[in-house]
Amino acid sequence: MAYHKITLTVNGEAEQVDVSSNMTLLRMLREKMGKTGTKNGCAAGECGACTVMVDGEPVNSCMMLAIECDGKEIVTVEGLADNGHLAPIQEAIIDSGGVQCGFCTPGILIASQALLDRNPNPSQAEIQEALVGNLCRCTGYVRIIEAVQAAAKMV
Ligand code: FES
Ligand code: FES
Repeated sequence: MAYHKITLTVNGEAEQVDVSSNMTLLRMLREKMGKTGTKNGCAAGECGACTVMVDGEPVNSCMMLAIECDGKEIVTVEGLADNGHLAPIQEAIIDSGGVQCGFCTPGILIASQALLDRNPNPSQAEIQEALVGNLCRCTGYVRIIEAVQAAAKMV
């Protein structure tokens, strides 16, 4: 197995990591960097639990190779808070009751933040479209959508 040294930015920190050719971004984050907030749900691109931002775009990290991330900027759920202050989307999802078991929550937070970054005032349809790849078996989605709407009003 070939190994490669890659250089990337994770949550604002410059990092160098040795990765094997077939290591996914998800495994690199969880196993090499301790970023276990990013969840492994299906490992097949179906559930969105592993969503992180890559250069500002939400990506299923189980479907991206770590070596593809050389030179890129990654944001995981651990990077949303600022100096211990939760991001508005994090505050809003707590306040709205949009978290139950929480397994989907990191991916939903990242997908929602990516939406708010490119569209600070999304419609309900735009929120639904942005979260279409993020499955939640607990909440029924209504409170998650309310959280994104509330976060949009907070920023
Ligand atoms: Fe990546 Fe399900 S774990 S999409
Ligand atoms: Fe349980 Fe979404 S809160 S899967």
